[in-house]
Amino acid sequence: MILEAKSIFKKYKGIHKELTVLDDINFSVNKGEIVSIVGPSGSGKTTVLGLCAGLDTPTSGSISLAGSMISSLTENEKAEVRNRKVGFIFQNFQLLPTLTALENVMIPLELQGRAKGAKEKAEQLLERVGLGGRSHHYPSQLSGGEQQRVSLARAFSNDPEILFADEPTGNLDEETGSIVEGLLFELNKEKQTTLIIVTHDLELANKTDRIIKLKGGKIVSDQRIKATAQI
Ligand SMILES: Nc1ncnc2c1ncn2[C@@H]1O[C@H](COP(=O)(O)OP(=O)(O)O)[C@@H](O)[C@H]1O
Ligand SMILES: [Mg+2]
Repeated sequence: MILEAKSIFKKYKGIHKELTVLDDINFSVNKGEIVSIVGPSGSGKTTVLGLCAGLDTPTSGSISLAGSMISSLTENEKAEVRNRKVGFIFQNFQLLPTLTALENVMIPLELQGRAKGAKEKAEQLLERVGLGGRSHHYPSQLSGGEQQRVSLARAFSNDPEILFADEPTGNLDEETGSIVEGLLFELNKEKQTTLIIVTHDLELANKTDRIIKLKGGKIVSDQRIKATAQI
């Protein structure tokens, strides 16, 4: 098991009353599984993903990620786990605007202290996502689909054990989205990463091993749709 969320609650203080955004979430993910999380807007998908990836802390409950109790670590310790074991792809790419494509892909390697060979590795990954000729371009010089391909290369560059993607095709047109989706699945297969994808796209969800449905901060169904080889 690579991820285990137990009795997760996330609450925010409102002006009049408390807002419960996640309400007793329980699930676990095996190594190598490809899981999609679906549900209406506002159902808590991004919040769950952020908590599981160690970007945020639950109000209560525990999350174990790749051997670490991520929910009870300090910010620095969480950052350390993320650098070593986690990849993340955001709907709006979140590349650093002042760095080139190549430099963006090199960041996770540099954070890991793997500066040696980082440039070559980043170049190979950019080549792999079809952007070999664009490595010295800045994000503002790239289309949305190209930026998301850079962010795929960045997410895989530290050889993560688990990769989280929050609506990775949500800001792209259908054709560009399917290119990004294809690359995501291909890279994932090559690198044997565990993959958790939040998506609105049921066609995409149906290509994963298992679909977790959220509604109003609760899991309303958790359905395995394909047999998964356990690694
Ligand atoms: N920092 C925050 N403060 C207050 N409410 C928040 C905060 N972040 C998210 N929410 C609320 O939590 C709910 C779930 O948000 P989110 O996880 O982004 O949903 P989804 O990704 O499914 O659209 C929404 O009602 C949202 O407004
Ligand atoms: Mg969201």
